[in-house]
Amino acid sequence: MRKIPVYYYSSSSNLTGRFAEALARIDGRRVLNLARSEVRRSEPTGPWVLLTPSYKAGNAAEVTLPAGVRAFLRSPMTRRRMVGIIGSGNRNFGEYYQAAARDLSQRSGRPVLFEFELSGTREDVERCAAILASLDEALAEVRSTG
Ligand SMILES: Cc1cc2nc3c(=O)[nH]c(=O)nc-3n(C[C@H](O)[C@H](O)[C@H](O)COP(=O)(O)O)c2cc1C
Repeated sequence: MRKIPVYYYSSSSNLTGRFAEALARIDGRRVLNLARSEVRRSEPTGPWVLLTPSYKAGNAAEVTLPAGVRAFLRSPMTRRRMVGIIGSGNRNFGEYYQAAARDLSQRSGRPVLFEFELSGTREDVERCAAILASLDEALAEVRSTG
C-alpha cells in the first residue's frame, strides 16, 4: 500500500524534524524536509501531508506559516494534492497554539490530522503513525473503487 509522504518544515531547533524522523522510523514512511531547496522546488506526485510548526511573527495579527512552507504551497497543484495537516506547537503561546496549522486548515479546507507540542512524546508519534496508516487505507480504497 502506498504510504502517504509527509513534507515537513523544521527550524534550526529541529523539534519538528525529530518528530518527523521518529515517524519515518516507526513504519518506513517517507518524510521530506522543506528546509532543503530541492524539496521545496519539487512537486508531490500524489496525495501528501504537511507537518509544520507555528511561528508567530512580531505583531499579534500576523501569525504565519514558516516561509519554506509558504514557498512550497505556491504551486496550485501542490496545494490541491495536500490532504491534511499535522501541527507542532507550544501551549505557552496560548491562543496562538497551533495557529499556523489551524489557519491553513481553515483556508485550505483540509483537516488538522494531529497536533503535538515541541518534538512530541513517543505516544504522540505512535498515535500520529496510526492516523496516517488509516489515511493510507482510505486513499487506497478511493483509488480501487473510484
Ligand atoms: C519565535 C517563536 C514563535 C513561536 N510561535 C508559536 C505559536 O504562535 N504557536 C505555537 O503553537 N507555537 C509557537 N512556537 C513554538 C514552536 O512552534 C515549537 O517549538 C515547534 O516545535 C518548533 O519546531 P522546530 O524546532 O522544528 O522549528 C514558537 C516558537 C518560537 C521560537
